[in-house]
Amino acid sequence: AFEVQIASTGERFAIPAQRTVTEVLAAHGIEIPISCEQGICGTCITRVLEGVPDHRDMYFTEAEKAGNNQFTPCCSRARSPLLVLDI
Ligand code: FES
Repeated sequence: AFEVQIASTGERFAIPAQRTVTEVLAAHGIEIPISCEQGICGTCITRVLEGVPDHRDMYFTEAEKAGNNQFTPCCSRARSPLLVLDI
């Protein structure tokens, strides 16, 4: 499990192993637009201000993934204990 923090409000949410970031945030009224939910379309792309994403998508190039400044919250996770999202 890891946590995400909403940069604009400071709210933090735990993301358990069996749930996606977009699922957990939607359950708290924070709707990130989604479409494929499989890391293909890029609809859900969200900027990451702090932390290291664990990219599970097929959308970004390797160079983009290595930039550590955006991820696909429909399917990707975190390598660090916390991701701060630019929302
Ligand atoms: Fe398609 Fe996340 S919804 S990549």
